[in-house]
Amino acid sequence: MSESGNLDNPVEAKISEKDVSSAVAVAGHPLHAMSVHFPIALVIATLGADVFYWWSADPFWLRAGLWSAGFAFATGVGAGLVGTVELLLVPGIRSRVASWAHAVAAMMLLSVAGLNWGLRLHMPDAVLPHGLLLSLLAAGLTGLAGWHGGKLIFHHGIGLMVTPRG
Ligand code: HEM
Repeated sequence: MSESGNLDNPVEAKISEKDVSSAVAVAGHPLHAMSVHFPIALVIATLGADVFYWWSADPFWLRAGLWSAGFAFATGVGAGLVGTVELLLVPGIRSRVASWAHAVAAMMLLSVAGLNWGLRLHMPDAVLPHGLLLSLLAAGLTGLAGWHGGKLIFHHGIGLMVTPRG
């Protein structure tokens, strides 16, 4: 379902006319939507590793958390770069407030994810409690960024490929 908004409002009517098709897509599939699953899954995996480390004190979970935090950050930066290209290049995306709300939430997430990885690299003893708390914050911000990203797709119809039923 796409959000029609208040088309009597001249500003919203003008925005609704702008193109929202993805500028970075492979065979019609937006690359950003394909890549965001990696940071989402890895941020949650880091939280899981921290909880298991807290519970078992097994250093295996410390190493697992270090790697998943690093890849959460790296894949998040990759997805964020593609998202930023979409945001800046596509007129119907950059003119929507919802796109900027998503970008701000995503940048907060990437900052926390980077800090979480750096903490594990340089101060592994601080994983309990600081790493665990950062993982909790990152998981909350992932929910916020992901929810706003989903709004772009399901409410604003950005990047959708709708074909007529034959
Ligand atoms: C500055 C960074 C980012 C910008 C500017 C950005 C921008 C966008 C844009 C324009 C869309 C609409 C779909 C498209 O055009 O491809 C989108 C969708 C989405 N974004 Fe981001 N994004 C950023 C980072 C992230 C990150 C780090 C995550 C991971 C939590 C994320 C999660 C999502 C999700 C879940 C969707 C909906 C995709 C779907 O349901 O298939 N974004 N984003």
